[in-house]
Amino acid sequence: MTERAPGEETWTVLALLRWTTRHFAAQGIETPRLDAECLLAHALGTDRLRLYLDFDKPVKPDERARFRELVRCRASGRIPVAQLTGRREFWSLPLRVTRDVLTPRPETETLVGVALAFLAELDGERRVLDLGTGSGAIALALAREREKARILATDVSVEALSVARENARALGLSHRVEFVQGSLYEPVRGERFDLLVSNPPYLAEGEANALAPELAHEPQCALFGGSDGFAVLRPLVAHAPEYLRPGGALAVEVAPPQAATVAGFCSEAGLEHVAIQRDLAGRPRVVSARAREDA
Ligand SMILES: C[S@@+](CC[C@H](N)C(=O)[O-])C[C@H]1O[C@@H](n2cnc3c(N)ncnc32)[C@H](O)[C@@H]1O
Repeated sequence: MTERAPGEETWTVLALLRWTTRHFAAQGIETPRLDAECLLAHALGTDRLRLYLDFDKPVKPDERARFRELVRCRASGRIPVAQLTGRREFWSLPLRVTRDVLTPRPETETLVGVALAFLAELDGERRVLDLGTGSGAIALALAREREKARILATDVSVEALSVARENARALGLSHRVEFVQGSLYEPVRGERFDLLVSNPPYLAEGEANALAPELAHEPQCALFGGSDGFAVLRPLVAHAPEYLRPGGALAVEVAPPQAATVAGFCSEAGLEHVAIQRDLAGRPRVVSARAREDA
């Protein structure tokens, strides 16, 4: 297979991918080939699969210039790929992402799975609250899967809510999810839900220096939960019983070392059937619990 098309200055798709993969690996980027493919596909206005069919195709100078700039931002600036392409797939939904929202993570699909399992037990229209919706990832995945769910999604960040609303519109789900600004339960005082779901900020501020440089490009209010990581999780769990219907469920994502502590918060709040679910990597990731039937 030729790597270069005829002429010294002409690079093929494959040659660019190989060069960039080596460059990214040397810079300590974790998934060098995948990142190179995503960025080249973006620069060429195509998808990753198409690159494999076009390995021998020469890349034009203007396309190469676009790609070079993306490679520079990824390698030197450590800007995450999703922010450079503006897109990330979550639960098979194509979502727009910007600097204002956390890029949805694969482990959060475990939380969606737990929430869907709970909703599958119930008949009729059900009310769901997604606290800290960010890009809208969880709320929109639930809306797509459960037609009867009425979903309210909140966030402290006005900018994040604007991205979430845009995603809802693009997916044709605007009529199924309502977005409201505010901190924790403040926008829903006096209301009750069948399901409370949340992937709150849960990193401890002291961990900041040990984190991947890419995280500096994500909104800090999406990442850090105070000095111990529990600043949002603690009140979220403690007040859950005031917002749950009898027998309703709470499901929250946590960092693996936090799972036992958060399970303890659930018991202290008087919730029952406390359980910890693992993500696909086998790490404790989701804590769930139920309000008492006679609550
Ligand atoms: C870890 S991100 C999760 C985003 C999205 N749910 C996801 O799973 O991809 C946490 C989100 O919670 C929001 N947030 C932080 N503190 C909050 C609070 N006190 N009340 C409501 N939302 C909050 C942040 O703005 C951010 O969008």
